[in-house]
Amino acid sequence: MATITYRSASCIYEGSDKLAVDSLNLDIADGEFVVLVGPSGSGKSTALRMLAGLEDIDEGTIEIGGRDMRGVPSKDRDIAMVFQNYALYPNKTVAENMGFALKLRGVPRDERRRKVEEAAKLLDLTDFLDRKPAKLSGGQRQRVAMGRAIVREPQVFCMDEPLSNLDAKLRVQTRTQIAALQRRLGTTTVYVTHDQVEAMTMGDRVAVLRNGKLQQFASPAELYDKPANAFVAGFIGSPAMNLLTAPITAQGVRIGDDSTLELERDQMTLLHDAGLEQVTVGVRPEHLQVSDSGGIDVVVDLVEDLGSETYVYTHAGPGVQLVARSLSRAPARLADTIELRKIPEGVVHLFHPETGERL
Ligand SMILES: Nc1ncnc2c1ncn2[C@@H]1O[C@H](COP(=O)(O)OP(=O)(O)OP(=O)(O)O)[C@@H](O)[C@H]1O
Ligand SMILES: [Mg+2]
Repeated sequence: MATITYRSASCIYEGSDKLAVDSLNLDIADGEFVVLVGPSGSGKSTALRMLAGLEDIDEGTIEIGGRDMRGVPSKDRDIAMVFQNYALYPNKTVAENMGFALKLRGVPRDERRRKVEEAAKLLDLTDFLDRKPAKLSGGQRQRVAMGRAIVREPQVFCMDEPLSNLDAKLRVQTRTQIAALQRRLGTTTVYVTHDQVEAMTMGDRVAVLRNGKLQQFASPAELYDKPANAFVAGFIGSPAMNLLTAPITAQGVRIGDDSTLELERDQMTLLHDAGLEQVTVGVRPEHLQVSDSGGIDVVVDLVEDLGSETYVYTHAGPGVQLVARSLSRAPARLADTIELRKIPEGVVHLFHPETGERL
Protein backbone atom coordinates (compact mmCIF):
# COMPACT_ATOMS: atom_id res chain seq x y z
CA MET A 1 0.00 0.00 0.00
CA ALA A 2 1.18 3.49 -0.74
CA THR A 3 0.41 7.14 -1.18
CA ILE A 4 0.65 8.64 -4.67
CA THR A 5 1.62 12.24 -5.42
CA TYR A 6 1.53 13.96 -8.78
CA ARG A 7 3.47 17.21 -8.54
CA SER A 8 3.06 19.49 -11.56
CA ALA A 9 3.41 16.35 -13.66
CA SER A 10 3.25 16.94 -17.42
CA CYS A 11 3.48 14.76 -20.49
CA ILE A 12 3.83 15.84 -24.10
CA TYR A 13 3.80 13.32 -26.93
CA GLU A 14 6.49 13.54 -29.58
CA GLY A 15 5.39 15.61 -32.55
CA SER A 16 2.56 17.24 -30.60
CA ASP A 17 2.54 20.91 -29.64
CA LYS A 18 0.05 20.43 -26.82
CA LEU A 19 0.58 18.90 -23.39
CA ALA A 20 -1.44 15.68 -23.07
CA VAL A 21 -1.26 16.10 -19.28
CA ASP A 22 -0.65 19.65 -18.10
CA SER A 23 0.92 20.28 -14.64
CA LEU A 24 -1.20 17.72 -12.83
CA ASN A 25 -1.29 17.94 -9.03
CA LEU A 26 -2.91 15.13 -7.05
CA ASP A 27 -2.36 13.91 -3.50
CA ILE A 28 -3.76 10.40 -3.19
CA ALA A 29 -3.97 8.83 0.26
CA ASP A 30 -2.88 5.33 1.17
CA GLY A 31 -5.70 2.92 0.33
CA GLU A 32 -7.76 5.51 -1.49
CA PHE A 33 -9.82 4.76 -4.61
CA VAL A 34 -9.38 7.68 -7.00
CA VAL A 35 -11.17 7.96 -10.33
CA LEU A 36 -9.87 10.03 -13.24
CA VAL A 37 -12.78 11.10 -15.39
CA GLY A 38 -13.21 13.42 -18.37
CA PRO A 39 -14.18 13.46 -22.02
CA SER A 40 -12.28 11.59 -24.71
CA GLY A 41 -8.78 12.97 -25.18
CA SER A 42 -8.69 14.76 -21.83
CA GLY A 43 -5.51 12.95 -20.75
CA LYS A 44 -6.88 10.31 -18.36
CA SER A 45 -5.04 7.34 -19.84
CA THR A 46 -1.86 9.38 -20.23
CA ALA A 47 -1.96 10.41 -16.56
CA LEU A 48 -2.41 6.77 -15.55
CA ARG A 49 0.32 5.54 -17.88
CA MET A 50 2.73 8.11 -16.44
CA LEU A 51 2.08 6.60 -13.02
CA ALA A 52 2.59 3.08 -14.34
CA GLY A 53 5.83 4.01 -16.10
CA LEU A 54 4.46 3.52 -19.62
CA GLU A 55 4.82 7.21 -20.57
CA ASP A 56 7.56 9.65 -19.65
CA ILE A 57 7.11 12.28 -16.97
CA ASP A 58 8.39 15.21 -19.04
CA GLU A 59 8.04 17.78 -16.28
CA GLY A 60 7.29 17.61 -12.57
CA THR A 61 7.34 14.40 -10.56
CA ILE A 62 5.22 11.45 -9.54
CA GLU A 63 5.91 9.76 -6.23
CA ILE A 64 4.69 6.41 -4.96
CA GLY A 65 5.07 5.93 -1.23
CA GLY A 66 7.21 9.08 -1.15
CA ARG A 67 9.66 7.69 -3.73
CA ASP A 68 10.33 9.66 -6.93
CA MET A 69 9.36 7.48 -9.89
CA ARG A 70 11.34 9.34 -12.56
CA GLY A 71 13.72 6.87 -14.13
CA VAL A 72 12.17 3.88 -12.33
CA PRO A 73 11.16 1.26 -14.92
CA SER A 74 7.56 0.10 -14.99
CA LYS A 75 8.35 -3.38 -13.68
CA ASP A 76 10.04 -1.95 -10.58
CA ARG A 77 7.09 0.23 -9.55
CA ASP A 78 5.10 -2.57 -7.92
CA ILE A 79 1.95 -1.70 -9.84
CA ALA A 80 -0.66 -4.01 -11.35
CA MET A 81 -2.61 -2.78 -14.35
CA VAL A 82 -6.02 -3.80 -15.64
CA PHE A 83 -6.89 -2.49 -19.11
CA GLN A 84 -9.96 -2.47 -21.28
CA ASN A 85 -8.38 -5.00 -23.61
CA TYR A 86 -6.95 -7.44 -21.12
CA ALA A 87 -5.67 -10.36 -23.14
CA LEU A 88 -5.91 -13.66 -21.30
CA TYR A 89 -3.78 -16.58 -22.46
CA PRO A 90 -6.28 -18.73 -24.39
CA ASN A 91 -4.42 -21.99 -23.83
CA LYS A 92 -3.98 -21.56 -20.10
CA THR A 93 -6.65 -22.28 -17.50
CA VAL A 94 -8.09 -19.57 -15.29
CA ALA A 95 -5.75 -20.64 -12.48
CA GLU A 96 -2.71 -20.59 -14.77
CA ASN A 97 -3.70 -17.20 -16.16
CA MET A 98 -4.05 -15.78 -12.68
CA GLY A 99 -0.83 -17.30 -11.37
CA PHE A 100 1.38 -16.61 -14.38
CA ALA A 101 3.00 -13.42 -13.07
CA LEU A 102 3.87 -15.23 -9.83
CA LYS A 103 5.38 -18.11 -11.79
CA LEU A 104 7.59 -15.70 -13.72
CA ARG A 105 8.66 -14.24 -10.40
CA GLY A 106 9.69 -17.73 -9.24
CA VAL A 107 7.07 -18.07 -6.50
CA PRO A 108 6.87 -21.76 -5.44
CA ARG A 109 3.92 -23.79 -6.73
CA ASP A 110 2.14 -24.25 -3.37
CA GLU A 111 2.23 -20.58 -2.53
CA ARG A 112 1.06 -19.74 -6.04
CA ARG A 113 -1.87 -22.12 -5.74
CA ARG A 114 -2.83 -20.65 -2.36
CA LYS A 115 -2.78 -17.06 -3.64
CA VAL A 116 -4.73 -17.94 -6.75
CA GLU A 117 -7.36 -19.77 -4.69
CA GLU A 118 -7.67 -16.82 -2.31
CA ALA A 119 -8.18 -14.39 -5.18
CA ALA A 120 -10.61 -16.77 -6.90
CA LYS A 121 -12.68 -16.86 -3.73
CA LEU A 122 -12.82 -13.07 -3.56
CA LEU A 123 -13.85 -12.91 -7.19
CA ASP A 124 -16.29 -15.81 -7.14
CA LEU A 125 -14.18 -17.77 -9.61
CA THR A 126 -13.47 -20.88 -7.55
CA ASP A 127 -15.60 -23.12 -9.76
CA PHE A 128 -13.88 -21.96 -12.92
CA LEU A 129 -10.21 -22.36 -12.00
CA ASP A 130 -9.67 -25.27 -14.40
CA ARG A 131 -11.55 -23.77 -17.34
CA LYS A 132 -10.06 -22.06 -20.38
CA PRO A 133 -11.04 -18.39 -20.98
CA ALA A 134 -13.03 -19.25 -24.13
CA LYS A 135 -15.54 -21.05 -21.94
CA LEU A 136 -16.23 -18.05 -19.69
CA SER A 137 -18.68 -15.18 -19.92
CA GLY A 138 -17.43 -11.64 -20.50
CA GLY A 139 -17.88 -10.75 -16.85
CA GLN A 140 -16.03 -13.85 -15.69
CA ARG A 141 -13.14 -13.10 -18.05
CA GLN A 142 -13.02 -9.58 -16.70
CA ARG A 143 -12.78 -10.98 -13.18
CA VAL A 144 -9.90 -13.25 -14.21
CA ALA A 145 -8.08 -10.14 -15.43
CA MET A 146 -8.73 -8.58 -12.01
CA GLY A 147 -7.56 -11.77 -10.34
CA ARG A 148 -4.30 -11.64 -12.22
CA ALA A 149 -3.72 -8.17 -10.77
CA ILE A 150 -4.80 -9.12 -7.24
CA VAL A 151 -2.52 -12.17 -6.80
CA ARG A 152 0.47 -9.94 -7.33
CA GLU A 153 -0.43 -7.98 -4.18
CA PRO A 154 0.90 -4.74 -5.64
CA GLN A 155 1.24 -1.38 -3.90
CA VAL A 156 -1.05 0.21 -6.48
CA PHE A 157 -3.78 -0.85 -8.91
CA CYS A 158 -4.03 1.08 -12.17
CA MET A 159 -7.23 0.44 -14.10
CA ASP A 160 -8.07 1.94 -17.48
CA GLU A 161 -11.73 1.50 -18.47
CA PRO A 162 -11.69 -2.15 -17.37
CA LEU A 163 -15.47 -2.48 -17.73
CA SER A 164 -16.02 -1.02 -21.17
CA ASN A 165 -16.28 -4.41 -22.88
CA LEU A 166 -19.17 -5.48 -20.67
CA ASP A 167 -22.86 -5.00 -21.35
CA ALA A 168 -24.76 -2.40 -19.34
CA LYS A 169 -26.10 -4.70 -16.64
CA LEU A 170 -22.86 -6.54 -16.10
CA ARG A 171 -21.03 -3.22 -15.90
CA VAL A 172 -23.17 -2.11 -13.00
CA GLN A 173 -22.70 -5.44 -11.23
CA THR A 174 -18.96 -5.56 -11.80
CA ARG A 175 -18.39 -1.96 -10.80
CA THR A 176 -19.98 -2.69 -7.43
CA GLN A 177 -17.78 -5.78 -7.06
CA ILE A 178 -14.59 -3.92 -7.93
CA ALA A 179 -15.38 -1.09 -5.51
CA ALA A 180 -16.19 -3.55 -2.70
CA LEU A 181 -13.09 -5.62 -3.43
CA GLN A 182 -10.84 -2.57 -3.39
CA ARG A 183 -12.24 -1.59 -0.02
CA ARG A 184 -11.55 -5.05 1.34
CA LEU A 185 -7.99 -5.18 -0.01
CA GLY A 186 -7.25 -1.55 0.84
CA THR A 187 -4.89 -1.19 -2.12
CA THR A 188 -4.44 2.36 -3.41
CA THR A 189 -6.23 2.45 -6.77
CA VAL A 190 -6.32 4.86 -9.69
CA TYR A 191 -9.20 4.09 -12.01
CA VAL A 192 -9.84 5.73 -15.40
CA THR A 193 -13.27 6.07 -16.96
CA HIS A 194 -15.15 8.47 -19.22
CA ASP A 195 -18.40 7.44 -17.53
CA GLN A 196 -19.38 9.95 -14.87
CA VAL A 197 -21.79 7.53 -13.20
CA GLU A 198 -18.97 5.02 -12.77
CA ALA A 199 -16.79 7.80 -11.37
CA MET A 200 -19.42 8.99 -8.91
CA THR A 201 -20.34 5.52 -7.65
CA MET A 202 -16.85 4.03 -7.33
CA GLY A 203 -14.47 6.75 -6.24
CA ASP A 204 -13.60 7.99 -2.77
CA ARG A 205 -12.53 11.05 -4.71
CA VAL A 206 -12.84 11.96 -8.35
CA ALA A 207 -10.44 14.02 -10.47
CA VAL A 208 -12.13 15.68 -13.44
CA LEU A 209 -9.80 16.36 -16.38
CA ARG A 210 -10.31 18.49 -19.47
CA ASN A 211 -7.69 19.16 -22.15
CA GLY A 212 -5.02 17.66 -19.89
CA LYS A 213 -5.84 20.06 -17.06
CA LEU A 214 -7.31 19.18 -13.69
CA GLN A 215 -10.67 20.90 -13.19
CA GLN A 216 -11.55 19.67 -9.72
CA PHE A 217 -10.46 16.91 -7.33
CA ALA A 218 -13.09 16.19 -4.70
CA SER A 219 -15.53 13.68 -3.26
CA PRO A 220 -18.49 12.73 -5.48
CA ALA A 221 -20.88 14.69 -3.25
CA GLU A 222 -18.76 17.82 -3.41
CA LEU A 223 -18.42 17.61 -7.20
CA TYR A 224 -22.17 17.38 -7.43
CA ASP A 225 -23.07 20.02 -4.86
CA LYS A 226 -20.25 22.51 -5.45
CA PRO A 227 -18.82 22.16 -8.95
CA ALA A 228 -15.72 24.37 -9.26
CA ASN A 229 -16.66 25.59 -12.73
CA ALA A 230 -19.31 25.37 -15.40
CA PHE A 231 -17.52 22.50 -17.14
CA VAL A 232 -17.64 20.24 -14.07
CA ALA A 233 -21.22 21.38 -13.44
CA GLY A 234 -22.23 20.23 -16.92
CA PHE A 235 -20.14 17.06 -16.93
CA ILE A 236 -21.28 15.53 -13.64
CA GLY A 237 -24.95 14.58 -13.45
CA SER A 238 -27.41 13.07 -15.90
CA PRO A 239 -29.37 14.68 -17.44
CA ALA A 240 -26.84 17.48 -17.23
CA MET A 241 -27.31 20.58 -15.11
CA ASN A 242 -29.19 23.35 -16.94
CA LEU A 243 -26.60 26.03 -17.70
CA LEU A 244 -27.65 29.38 -19.15
CA THR A 245 -25.87 32.68 -19.54
CA ALA A 246 -28.45 35.37 -18.92
CA PRO A 247 -28.76 39.10 -18.14
CA ILE A 248 -28.96 40.11 -14.49
CA THR A 249 -32.13 41.93 -13.42
CA ALA A 250 -33.25 43.43 -10.11
CA GLN A 251 -34.52 40.14 -8.67
CA GLY A 252 -32.46 37.56 -10.48
CA VAL A 253 -31.73 36.71 -14.09
CA ARG A 254 -33.93 36.99 -17.13
CA ILE A 255 -34.73 33.73 -18.86
CA GLY A 256 -36.26 33.74 -22.34
CA ASP A 257 -38.46 36.70 -23.24
CA ASP A 258 -39.70 37.92 -19.91
CA SER A 259 -39.43 35.25 -17.25
CA THR A 260 -37.28 35.70 -14.19
CA LEU A 261 -35.30 33.11 -12.29
CA GLU A 262 -35.15 34.61 -8.85
CA LEU A 263 -31.90 34.61 -6.90
CA GLU A 264 -31.30 34.91 -3.19
CA ARG A 265 -30.34 38.26 -1.77
CA ASP A 266 -26.74 37.33 -0.99
CA GLN A 267 -26.35 36.01 -4.52
CA MET A 268 -27.61 39.35 -5.89
CA THR A 269 -25.10 41.16 -3.69
CA LEU A 270 -22.34 38.89 -4.97
CA LEU A 271 -23.27 39.66 -8.59
CA HIS A 272 -23.41 43.39 -8.01
CA ASP A 273 -20.09 43.36 -6.18
CA ALA A 274 -18.56 41.48 -9.10
CA GLY A 275 -19.85 44.20 -11.43
CA LEU A 276 -21.33 41.72 -13.87
CA GLU A 277 -24.14 42.37 -16.31
CA GLN A 278 -24.57 38.73 -17.22
CA VAL A 279 -24.00 35.53 -15.32
CA THR A 280 -24.03 31.82 -16.09
CA VAL A 281 -26.63 30.17 -13.89
CA GLY A 282 -26.86 26.43 -13.27
CA VAL A 283 -29.87 24.52 -11.97
CA ARG A 284 -30.09 20.73 -11.79
CA PRO A 285 -33.16 19.14 -13.43
CA GLU A 286 -34.27 17.71 -10.07
CA HIS A 287 -34.37 21.23 -8.66
CA LEU A 288 -36.92 22.37 -11.25
CA GLN A 289 -40.52 21.28 -11.24
CA VAL A 290 -43.53 21.77 -13.44
CA SER A 291 -45.82 24.31 -11.80
CA ASP A 292 -49.14 25.94 -12.55
CA SER A 293 -48.07 29.51 -12.12
CA GLY A 294 -45.33 31.86 -11.10
CA GLY A 295 -42.51 30.11 -12.94
CA ILE A 296 -40.50 30.37 -16.13
CA ASP A 297 -42.65 30.10 -19.25
CA VAL A 298 -41.48 27.25 -21.45
CA VAL A 299 -42.66 25.04 -24.30
CA VAL A 300 -42.29 21.26 -24.00
CA ASP A 301 -40.00 19.65 -26.62
CA LEU A 302 -39.76 16.10 -25.29
CA VAL A 303 -41.06 14.03 -22.40
CA GLU A 304 -38.90 11.12 -21.27
CA ASP A 305 -40.69 8.67 -19.00
CA LEU A 306 -38.16 6.46 -17.19
CA GLY A 307 -40.75 4.77 -15.02
CA SER A 308 -39.56 6.00 -11.65
CA GLU A 309 -39.31 9.59 -12.86
CA THR A 310 -40.00 11.70 -15.90
CA TYR A 311 -37.76 14.28 -17.55
CA VAL A 312 -39.42 17.16 -19.33
CA TYR A 313 -37.21 18.82 -21.98
CA THR A 314 -38.33 22.35 -22.78
CA HIS A 315 -37.23 25.68 -24.21
CA ALA A 316 -37.93 29.17 -22.90
CA GLY A 317 -36.80 30.89 -26.10
CA PRO A 318 -34.51 30.19 -29.06
CA GLY A 319 -31.54 28.19 -27.73
CA VAL A 320 -32.70 28.55 -24.11
CA GLN A 321 -33.24 24.95 -23.08
CA LEU A 322 -34.34 23.73 -19.68
CA VAL A 323 -34.83 20.20 -18.39
CA ALA A 324 -36.96 19.48 -15.34
CA ARG A 325 -37.53 16.27 -13.42
CA SER A 326 -41.00 15.27 -12.44
CA LEU A 327 -41.84 12.46 -10.06
CA SER A 328 -45.35 12.14 -11.36
CA ARG A 329 -46.20 10.37 -14.57
CA ALA A 330 -47.04 12.39 -17.71
CA PRO A 331 -46.81 15.85 -16.16
CA ALA A 332 -46.85 17.52 -19.58
CA ARG A 333 -47.23 16.77 -23.25
CA LEU A 334 -45.31 17.73 -26.35
CA ALA A 335 -45.79 21.38 -27.40
CA ASP A 336 -47.64 22.22 -24.17
CA THR A 337 -46.89 25.63 -22.74
CA ILE A 338 -46.04 25.13 -19.08
CA GLU A 339 -44.15 26.82 -16.28
CA LEU A 340 -41.04 25.60 -14.51
CA ARG A 341 -40.28 26.61 -11.00
CA LYS A 342 -37.31 26.05 -8.74
CA ILE A 343 -38.28 23.84 -5.81
CA PRO A 344 -37.87 25.58 -2.43
CA GLU A 345 -34.74 23.61 -1.46
CA GLY A 346 -33.31 23.91 -4.99
CA VAL A 347 -29.93 25.50 -5.62
CA VAL A 348 -28.93 28.00 -8.29
CA HIS A 349 -25.20 27.77 -9.02
CA LEU A 350 -23.48 30.90 -10.31
CA PHE A 351 -20.52 30.89 -12.68
CA HIS A 352 -18.53 33.69 -14.27
CA PRO A 353 -19.93 34.19 -17.80
CA GLU A 354 -16.46 34.28 -19.42
CA THR A 355 -14.15 32.15 -17.29
CA GLY A 356 -16.81 29.68 -16.14
CA GLU A 357 -15.35 29.75 -12.61
CA ARG A 358 -17.75 29.32 -9.71
CA LEU A 359 -18.67 32.66 -8.14
N1 LIG B 1 0.71 7.86 -28.47
C1 LIG B 1 0.28 9.11 -28.66
N2 LIG B 1 0.91 9.97 -29.49
C2 LIG B 1 0.50 11.23 -29.67
N3 LIG B 1 -0.57 11.77 -29.05
C3 LIG B 1 -1.25 10.97 -28.21
C4 LIG B 1 -0.87 9.61 -27.98
N4 LIG B 1 -1.73 9.07 -27.09
C5 LIG B 1 -2.61 10.05 -26.78
N5 LIG B 1 -2.34 11.19 -27.45
C6 LIG B 1 -3.04 12.48 -27.34
O1 LIG B 1 -2.97 12.91 -25.99
C7 LIG B 1 -4.19 13.43 -25.53
C8 LIG B 1 -4.67 12.66 -24.31
O2 LIG B 1 -4.92 11.33 -24.69
P1 LIG B 1 -5.41 10.22 -23.67
O3 LIG B 1 -5.30 8.91 -24.34
O4 LIG B 1 -4.66 10.37 -22.39
O5 LIG B 1 -6.93 10.63 -23.47
P2 LIG B 1 -8.10 9.90 -22.65
O6 LIG B 1 -8.63 10.93 -21.71
O7 LIG B 1 -7.63 8.63 -22.09
O8 LIG B 1 -9.20 9.66 -23.79
P3 LIG B 1 -10.18 8.41 -24.06
O9 LIG B 1 -11.36 8.60 -23.15
O10 LIG B 1 -10.57 8.59 -25.50
O11 LIG B 1 -9.44 7.14 -23.80
C9 LIG B 1 -5.13 13.37 -26.71
O12 LIG B 1 -5.15 14.62 -27.32
C10 LIG B 1 -4.51 12.32 -27.62
O13 LIG B 1 -4.82 12.58 -28.96
MG1 LIG C 1 -8.11 6.58 -22.47
